[in-house]
Amino acid sequence: MERPVNRSYRLRGARATLAQEMAYERLWPKYGLEPVGVIDPAVIFPDASRRIMEIGTGMGEATAKIVASFVDTGFIAVEVHKPGIGALMNLASANGSENLRIIEEDAHMILSHSIPDGSLDAIHLYFPDPWPKARHWKRRIIQAQFLELIHPKIVDGGYIHIATDWIEYVEWMQRVFSESTLFEGGVIARPEWRPISKFEGQGLRKGHTVTDMKYFKK
Ligand SMILES: C[S@@+](CC[C@H](N)C(=O)[O-])C[C@H]1O[C@@H](n2cnc3c(N)ncnc32)[C@H](O)[C@@H]1O
Repeated sequence: MERPVNRSYRLRGARATLAQEMAYERLWPKYGLEPVGVIDPAVIFPDASRRIMEIGTGMGEATAKIVASFVDTGFIAVEVHKPGIGALMNLASANGSENLRIIEEDAHMILSHSIPDGSLDAIHLYFPDPWPKARHWKRRIIQAQFLELIHPKIVDGGYIHIATDWIEYVEWMQRVFSESTLFEGGVIARPEWRPISKFEGQGLRKGHTVTDMKYFKK
């Protein structure tokens, strides 16, 4: 797959604070992975008990906490927003985390070209851009083609865990998953280990209901 015409993210200015710029310079050699050639999670984290990709880590507060909570798990964060990557690296470094690598690229490209089949125990997708307007629905990351893309990358018994505060997107996702033969699952209780992210906090303050969903590879 080439870079999708309908990007699932908004191209925002790459304005970063000085702290984020400095974190980027200092910490990219430790945490960064260039999107070149094969990126095999088993080679990056040979001793990990699980290997999980998180797509769209935003400003990284929730990701950094999850990474620090599960030190035996290797995490690969994929994000296109550079200031957010700097912020995540800063937090991970402050926690002394060794079990995180970050790729600055569209997840569609990375999954298509870099990640070997059967190499991920799970994918985390927390608060993907909801694209509320009908003319933007084609930009939602959960689409039939996306399920086809991730399915081979996940090990047998593996899953995708999704959280969203946009009720219409819950219905959209349930429809896309139910029309696919590749996954089975549905709504789950919020796991107590999933911290509130910046985006989630904004939704909660607006009175939105948050839904967690888990779909296992069939
Ligand atoms: C609404 S924000 C949520 C961020 C974070 N998970 C949170 O809960 O605060 C969605 C994030 O996903 C990123 N994103 C969207 N599509 C992406 C893609 N195809 N590849 C990588 N990152 C993507 C955006 O840049 C943005 O930072």
